[in-house]
Amino acid sequence: MCGIVGITGNKPVADILINGLKRLEYRGYDSSGIAVSNGGLNIFKAKGKISELENVTRGENLEGLTGIAHTRWATHGPPNVINAHPHCDGNCDVVIVHNGIIENFTALKTRLAASGHEFISDTDSEVLAHLISEYYEGCLEDTVRKILHLVEGTYGLAVMHADEPEKIVAARLGSPLVVGLGEECNYLASDVAAILGETKRVLYLKDGDVAVLTPDGVDVTSIDNVPLSREINEINWDLDQIQKGGYPHFMLKEIFEQPKTIRDSFRGRILPELGDMKLDGLEMSDTELREIKRIVILACGTSWHAALLGEYLIEEHAGIPVEVEYASEFRYRSPVIEPGTVCFVISQSGETLDTLEAMREARRRGAKVLGLTNVVGSTIARESDAGIYIHAGPEIGVASTKAFTSQVTILLLLTVLLARRRNMSLVRGQRIIKELELIPEKINKILEQSDKILEIAKVYKDVANFLYLGRGYNFPIALEGALKLKEISYIHAEGYPAAEMKHGPIALIDPDMPVLVISTSDGSYQKIKGNVQEVKAREGKIISIVSEGEKEISEMSDHVIEIPESLNMLTPLLAVIPLQLLSYHIALLRGENVDQPRNLAKSVTVE
Ligand code: G6P
Repeated sequence: MCGIVGITGNKPVADILINGLKRLEYRGYDSSGIAVSNGGLNIFKAKGKISELENVTRGENLEGLTGIAHTRWATHGPPNVINAHPHCDGNCDVVIVHNGIIENFTALKTRLAASGHEFISDTDSEVLAHLISEYYEGCLEDTVRKILHLVEGTYGLAVMHADEPEKIVAARLGSPLVVGLGEECNYLASDVAAILGETKRVLYLKDGDVAVLTPDGVDVTSIDNVPLSREINEINWDLDQIQKGGYPHFMLKEIFEQPKTIRDSFRGRILPELGDMKLDGLEMSDTELREIKRIVILACGTSWHAALLGEYLIEEHAGIPVEVEYASEFRYRSPVIEPGTVCFVISQSGETLDTLEAMREARRRGAKVLGLTNVVGSTIARESDAGIYIHAGPEIGVASTKAFTSQVTILLLLTVLLARRRNMSLVRGQRIIKELELIPEKINKILEQSDKILEIAKVYKDVANFLYLGRGYNFPIALEGALKLKEISYIHAEGYPAAEMKHGPIALIDPDMPVLVISTSDGSYQKIKGNVQEVKAREGKIISIVSEGEKEISEMSDHVIEIPESLNMLTPLLAVIPLQLLSYHIALLRGENVDQPRNLAKSVTVE
């Protein structure tokens, strides 16, 4: 989604701004732009990749010590130069970059047009520049605070005025902004990754905050001008962690990092001798954990698939009723939250707007809300009552891989924590931990099959459709496998509970239709064998993911990928790996941009 970078200080800003934008590329965007204050406000914009912006600015005068820049992900109006940010008022005295949506922009535009303002773009954001220019009386922060009272919608906003050349005014409502503190130089970004190379001391703005950045300091107030103090945080990610580390793509790097990231997720949280878990972040006593009567899990996208696995795990082992909801549905229906309901909110970014709003709705209805997030300091992490960081490290590839397996790992820990306070025995708890510790090594064995999976990808790279089938714990994995494929290869793919195939998808099966079946040796093995026969009888092509040494399904399959044996509840962590690799290889063979697939965004901060 859209990204913002801003700098004001004692050094030339253009290159730093453009590098910052590059670090936000992973969020997804379709145009970009930069404004630098040097004499007046100079603006350059380009459609497409940031390299296009670099072409446009080459040889131009971009010297200046204060500037703002933006990557745009189109919502109002197509991706083109005019709609790209920064936007300015008619005289170019005011420039703005904006993330979010101004819902009442049509009414505001009509009013401004009547008093002589001319608009050139299709965007909602442009209205902000004109509003500021209309109300400006010599102090930019006063004007911004004033006009924000007229605006309905969401914003992460950065503004400059030609008359106050060293100042950036920022405001946040529903769209994240972080301020970086340097030496005589201060930074603004929608995502800490953009400024990590410059400073690690940051403060996160909250909804309703207005910040004034100058080279000398940063002041934060409410939009009613009440001074506010915001805590300074030290970031412990470094730049290396968000670079490719020798892999051709972030996605491949992140797939191969999973043995480590899964270990990072459970490190320090497992108690092998006690067969138990230590999840201090939840801030819940044993009594409180025992008193949980019902769990609601809210999430979107891949995080929703992890949530579904959470339902299967917690209901089977801890016996607590669990309901998994798409955040976007939960927030707009009338969900019933009874006393004793705890709501887990799963989000890699911690910024997905629907998930955030669903969390707020759950709290309004009386639930305790607990966040499972990856990005430290993200809005969901900060607004939840307590929570658990999944510790997967920065995930840059738009298609989530390592964050998914870390989310599942945390849900496994949570399951044992809850179950041990109910009926799970010490021996069972110990066994699960022992098997969990073996998972990273088992994933390494699957990763060694990457070349074999590439060969399978070559056979199917040109198909139009794919079906993924699984039962039990492997059903959410079938959904996730199908999502991975469609996200990055643009092949239509559907995940189905294997038995449901008879109620629709079976009509599609013919010799051109590949069906990927996840059939590890668990309780559903015999049943899924029947489903494979049904596909075979209709001459569908079968790719099967089976446990090592499996014979019967393997013999019926056109291609077989073996994964090591494990406990049923842990198998999803293994079964998803070949599906990630298959999607990666197919997308690459089709020449697609695996890290930044079209139309998708890493962090979806609009509804
Ligand atoms: C976007 C991303 C997905 C992600 C989903 C939820 O659609 O492209 O990869 O699963 O948002 O994101 P979250 O950060 O809340 O987990």
